Amino acid sequence: MTKQETFQLEFENHVKEGLSTFPKFLSSKYIYDDRGDELFQQIMALPEYYLTEAEFNIVDTYKSNLREVFNEHGAFDLIELGAGDGKKTKVLLKELVHNNVQFTYIPIDISQHAIDDLTMSLTSILPELEVQGEQGTYFKVLERLATYNKRPKVIIVLGSNIGNLEHPQAINFLKKIKEVMSHNDLLFMGFDQKKNPLTIQNAYADSKGVTQEFNRNLLHRINKEMNADFPVDSFEHWESYDPETGTAKSFLIATEPCEVEIKKLGFKTTFKKWETIHCEISQKYDDETVEWLANQSGLEIEKIYEDQQKLFKDYLFKVLK
Ligand code: AVJ
Repeated sequence: MTKQETFQLEFENHVKEGLSTFPKFLSSKYIYDDRGDELFQQIMALPEYYLTEAEFNIVDTYKSNLREVFNEHGAFDLIELGAGDGKKTKVLLKELVHNNVQFTYIPIDISQHAIDDLTMSLTSILPELEVQGEQGTYFKVLERLATYNKRPKVIIVLGSNIGNLEHPQAINFLKKIKEVMSHNDLLFMGFDQKKNPLTIQNAYADSKGVTQEFNRNLLHRINKEMNADFPVDSFEHWESYDPETGTAKSFLIATEPCEVEIKKLGFKTTFKKWETIHCEISQKYDDETVEWLANQSGLEIEKIYEDQQKLFKDYLFKVLK
């Protein structure tokens, strides 16, 4: 079975499971086909979606400090999990290249397409940069790199992607990263912070409805890939931020009763009016929570970087001694 086929089977099993339980759920992990990627790019450009600008501000403000910290033990591998479009990473790469720092940039992504695009645009703006993209799941590639490459590693994970994980899963994620880290290695990771609940609410319930389309893309995908008949326009997006736990949850809600047939799965389900599908969590953090997650994972916080507006933080971690 190809990777593609394995992923498709996983998606199908997930859909069957998520739509036959109560309350229903579908994971945001399956939003990201080409259309989903494009909608996420649109989200990152929304004025309400402060995360991108805030983290850009951190990288831009502290780039020379980051250069010194990353370069402390000489030549290194800069490994990025999730290649993305690289706007924030480019600032960092320029800083390193223009100061003649010896390093190799290794973006890891599940999508070869994303890696190829990024590599192309990087070689045109920074021809001196050594790029060595790796296609695959984060951990398979990380393990491979850890066994054959003994240079110090700086692993970066931008964008608060960890926020899609519940705390126990987040700890597993951090533990797996920690397992491939040696004592001089660093992890630099973004965590969106708890703040005025309305700011968070607005970031995930934008006025143009881009986030609604982003979530609805899950249903479009099921219609297309599994021969289903979701009346997509009858599902509206709802965002609910709980300031006590710091969890933003997104839902699709049926505004009409409906029956949905998923022909490829030989499966039917019904929705009552106002029935929900839980699609995503976007966890918000504070220092105590990040410290707890780190310690549970065998890591410790070395340094904390914050943007000027105090919305977002990037944490620098080392292996716990
Ligand atoms: C890609 C997980 C960082 O949760 O903020 C944006 C995804 N969902 N708007 C986030 C997302 C709705 C995003 N992450």
